[in-house]
Formats: sequence, structure tokens, C-alpha cells
Amino acid sequence: MLSFAQFKGVKVIVELGGGDGSITRGIIERMDADAKLLVFEISEPFCNNLRKQFPQKNVEIICDSAGNMDKYLPEEKADLILSSLPFSLIPKDSRMEIYEKTRSHLKPTGFFIQICYSYILKFQFAQYFKSIKTAFTLRNFPPAFIIICN
Ligand SMILES: C[S@@+](CC[C@H](N)C(=O)[O-])C[C@H]1O[C@@H](n2cnc3c(N)ncnc32)[C@H](O)[C@@H]1O
Repeated sequence: MLSFAQFKGVKVIVELGGGDGSITRGIIERMDADAKLLVFEISEPFCNNLRKQFPQKNVEIICDSAGNMDKYLPEEKADLILSSLPFSLIPKDSRMEIYEKTRSHLKPTGFFIQICYSYILKFQFAQYFKSIKTAFTLRNFPPAFIIICN
């Protein structure tokens, strides 16, 4: 998933659904020293664990729904929003709120990248983003789709 993102020169990165931090770690390894990462995760135990793993000043673990991202994002919009949210399990209204806020908090030059198991998401994202590309990776278990939007 991360190989589809450009990290050089990027200043604001948002991750949706931090989970156990494996994607978070990959982002931190790749991002510039002066970049800032905001991670949204609704599970408190996961958030506590993420805060222990990633105490860096430029990494903020936000224990709230991605649907509330507008409350936390700085004035500057995001260059990259990377998501592993399980959209097929999220109710339609909440899902649409996250799609809309993701679109409106992304810079015009920014990218939203989702890893998922359902190709159907591509058609949902097409209502919010001008350009959608898809890829398939065997490097995830189970193999997954990567949807790249801007
Ligand atoms: C597939 S897991 C993430 C896997 C994670 N990227 C990793 O590498 O471990 C999805 C995560 O999204 C979180 N989540 C679900 N709905 C959410 C929401 N509305 N806002 C933020 N996080 C959410 C879940 O608690 C779960 O940890």
C-alpha cells in the first residue's frame, strides 16, 4: 500500500484506522523528518498501544472516528490520507461522511489511498474523487486491492 504513495516533500499525512500500527510504522519510516502524521483510531486499547509505540512529537494518535477528522486537522490540508478502514462494515451515513471529509481535507494535489478486499469501494469513491486507479497486491494476507484516488 505504501509503495503507491509519494512521501518526499509531503508535510501532512493522515492515517485512518491505525489498528496495531503496522501501517503507521511504515509511514513513519518513510516520511520526512518535518512531516506530521495524524492517526485516527476508534479503539482506546489500540490507541494506548499506538501512543506507546510511537511517542514521536510529530505523530498524533487521535482516539476518535475518522468521521470527526475536521475537528482535529490543521488549517493546512493533507497531502496524503491512507486508510485501512473496514468500509464494508461501516454504516452508509458514517461511510459517506468519512468519504466527504476525506475529499474536502485533501489538497488538490493530494492522494487518498485505501487498502481493502472489496472492489466495490472503487465505485463509491468515484462519486467523490476525479481520478481512481486500482492495483492488487499479493504482499498482504489475504491479498488485497489498493485504490488510489485524487
Ligand atoms: C483493518 S484494521 C486496521 C489495520 C491496521 N492498519 C494495522 O496495520 O494494524 C481497521 C481499524 O480501523 C479502526 N476503525 C474502524 N472504524 C473506524 C473509524 N470510524 N474511525 C477510526 N478508526 C476506525 C478499527 O478499530 C481497526 O483498528
